[in-house]
Amino acid sequence: MSDPHGGRGNSDRSITKSGGPVGTTAPVPRPHEATTPRPGEPVLIGDAMTGGYGRGADILHGCTIAVDRGEIAVIVGPNGAGKSTAMKAVFGMLDVREGAVRLKGEDITALRPQERVAKGMAFVPQTANVFTSLTVEENLEMGAFLRRDDIRGTMDQVFDLFPILRDKRRQPAGELSGGQRQQVAVGRALMTQPEILMLDEPTAGVSPIVMDELFDRIIEVARTGISILMVEQNARQALDIADTGFVMVQGANAFTGTGKDLLADPDVRKSFLGG
Ligand SMILES: Nc1ncnc2c1ncn2[C@@H]1O[C@H](COP(=O)(O)OP(=O)(O)OP(=O)(O)O)[C@@H](O)[C@H]1O
Ligand SMILES: [Mg+2]
Repeated sequence: MSDPHGGRGNSDRSITKSGGPVGTTAPVPRPHEATTPRPGEPVLIGDAMTGGYGRGADILHGCTIAVDRGEIAVIVGPNGAGKSTAMKAVFGMLDVREGAVRLKGEDITALRPQERVAKGMAFVPQTANVFTSLTVEENLEMGAFLRRDDIRGTMDQVFDLFPILRDKRRQPAGELSGGQRQQVAVGRALMTQPEILMLDEPTAGVSPIVMDELFDRIIEVARTGISILMVEQNARQALDIADTGFVMVQGANAFTGTGKDLLADPDVRKSFLGG
């Protein structure tokens, strides 16, 4: 796929100056590395998903979202379009009545979220994504609760990625700024050493400068080979760094393409990017 952000590439495998890449330093091989996607299929795909909450009406209507290895896939669309619902469906937080979720070719539609974490997926939800009364460090430790190995190396990598968190590691997360909290949330997800990082509006409520900074860090994470699937309200900026973009409207796909193509598409521009 093309590289819309000019040379971002995937060749630089280091996420930090000193340490190895996040996600590839697990001392024990993950049990899920046996399967491979069917040819041409993305690493993770929510394929033609239909479903909703409990017994309520369907919110998703044959919606497909996907991400490939080391790529950034972005979901944009109006409020209430079902972006968060699609993310929750992919992560196993609601029933998919039709369609399927496949991870590296394996059908994981029936798995619980925790089982998906064990398979290399991590999810930062749109709201309530940090424990405000716990310190930054405790939040990161919580992220690693499934791990039985030494987590200090990964924590160092998170601190290298977000240096401010190292300074504030003994402070309750509730005392941090919005942007810093989002860093904690992303850091917490990285503590599981995921192969796929799902982010629902990681830049919600932060200033444009902080947004740019956060996007740079997300690109850095993707460069280590971690796939990023994220929802963004800042559609223009997000599509600018996206390898693939999905425009969702009323629970379905309206447009899909490279970030670059979507940004150039007159219909997408007119309807979703303010002209
Ligand atoms: N927990 C829930 N229970 C029932 N319905 C819900 C729930 N969460 C969301 N919905 C409904 O699903 C639809 C899609 O909501 P969703 O949160 O997925 O949209 P979104 O695209 O993420 O919007 P936003 O841009 O505001 O975050 C809405 O009609 C919403 O009312
Ligand atoms: Mg949402």
